[in-house]
This record gives sequence, C-alpha cells and structure tokens, in this order.
Amino acid sequence: MRLVFIGPPGAGKGTQAKLLRDHYRIAHISTGDMLRDRIAAGTPTGRKAKPYVESGSLVPDSIIIEMVAERLAEPDCSAGFLFDGFPRTLAQAAALNDALRTIRQELNAVVLLDVQDEELVRRLGSRWTCSNGACNTAYNLISKPPRVTGKCDACGQTLMQREDDKPETIRTRLQKYHQQTAPVVVFYRKNGLVRSVSGMGTVEEIQRSIRAALGA
Ligand code: AP5
Ligand code: MG
Repeated sequence: MRLVFIGPPGAGKGTQAKLLRDHYRIAHISTGDMLRDRIAAGTPTGRKAKPYVESGSLVPDSIIIEMVAERLAEPDCSAGFLFDGFPRTLAQAAALNDALRTIRQELNAVVLLDVQDEELVRRLGSRWTCSNGACNTAYNLISKPPRVTGKCDACGQTLMQREDDKPETIRTRLQKYHQQTAPVVVFYRKNGLVRSVSGMGTVEEIQRSIRAALGA
C-alpha cells in the first residue's frame, strides 16, 4: 500500500498514520518528524530547516525532496509507505511522481483529513508530545491526557510542547496550508486519488472511516 496523508496542522495526520502503519505494516514517513530529529541532532539539514519550522513556514522544496528521496531508498519502504505531511507543494508532488515512476510504482490513494480551523487551533494548543524521538506519541490535555502528568504512557519519558504550537505560529501554519498545500489536493483530485475523510470525531471513529475509504 502506498499512501499520502494530507490535512491541515492538527488534523490528526500523525495520530491516524501510526494506527494505519501498524495495520498495513508499512513505513510511516513524516517529514515533520524527520526535520525535528535533524534539528535536535544539529545536522546541516536541521540547521537549515530550523528557522522555517519554528516560524511555521514551509522548508524549501530542495531540502525536503532530497530528504524524502534518501528515505524512500531505505529497505523498509519496499513493503509500502505512508507519507504524512508530504507532499506539501506542487513541486514536491511532481518530485514524488518522478521518484515513483523511476521505481515503477504508483500511489494507491491520497487521504485528505478534513477539520475546521477552530478545532485545529484548540487541538494544537493542548498537544503535548513525547520527547523521546523514537516514541513520539502525541497526547492532548483535552482529548487524550497522559496517565501521569508530564510523562509518556508508552515509554515514561518527559512530554514537551512543540516549538511551533504557539498561537501566532499556528496561524502561520494554517495560512501556509491554505495557500501552498490546497493546490496539491486539486492536483491529486484530477488523478482521482483523493479520499476525503472527516477528521472530526473520536480517533477510533476516524480510523474506521479511513479504512472504509481505502476498502481495507
Ligand atoms: P508537521 O510535523 O507535518 O506538522 P503539521 O502538518 O503542522 O501537523 P501536526 O503534526 O501539527 O498535526 P497532525 O495532523 O499530525 O496532528 P496530530 O496527530 O499530532 O510539520 C511541521 C513543520 O515542518 C511545518 O510547519 C514545516 O515547517 C515543516 N515541514 C514538514 N513537512 C514539510 C514539507 N513536506 N515541506 C515543507 N516543510 C515541511 O494531532 C494533533 C493534536 O490533536 C494531538 O494533541 C492529538 O492527540 C489530538 N487529536 C488527534 N486526533 C484527535 C481527535 N480525533 N479528536 C481530538 N483530538 C485529537
Ligand atoms: Mg504530525
């Protein structure tokens, strides 16, 4: 299965992608997680990406396309993959098409998670994430609080708030989504790949709707 997840910041892409990754046993490729790992490790890519990520702007296409090409060449991707937060621009969508054509593969579907802006702001303002990069579980003080305040249920590490979850940065991220990523949805609609799913409701309800939309 080869999938793309598109949706505004806070739509639940990461939450739903992890469940689907386990269901299909495919690689979960979150460009946001990859960038945050590189920023934390202080790599050259991380240093270049940091100001963009922290201000809520999109990282330049050249950086993202190179990072994704390297990831796609890793062995776990041969069983299938799920992109979370990529492609976010038309240039990235074109680069993905070229990369897939080279390896003679095609996308099965593009899942579009639809959530209203007010709900997104509410979710992101109350999100806490595990600081252990290998775990990365997302919590929410309203909808999914951890059992012990400030600690991850799964691995016990400290929870942290993302640098880009400040109210003014959330607004910039939403604006970038509507300006730069909405055209990607139009592009995939023309190819008949888009499966629109409401991202409102419980995590389990949304997961069921996604699987139904994919016929799985
Ligand atoms: P990225 O990490 O991709 O962030 P994003 O798209 O802004 O999305 P989020 O990760 O914030 O939200 P999500 O949809 O995954 O929701 P989640 O499941 O966590 O990108 C970050 C930055 O990196 C970008 O701004 C950009 O700078 C850069 N970047 C990344 N990719 C790039 C690319 N391709 N090109 C250029 N730049 C790129 O859920 C959110 C919260 O809601 C959580 O607290 C969760 O517990 C809660 N929640 C989830 N589902 C529900 C539900 N059903 N009901 C109630 N609460 C829920
Ligand atoms: Mg995410």
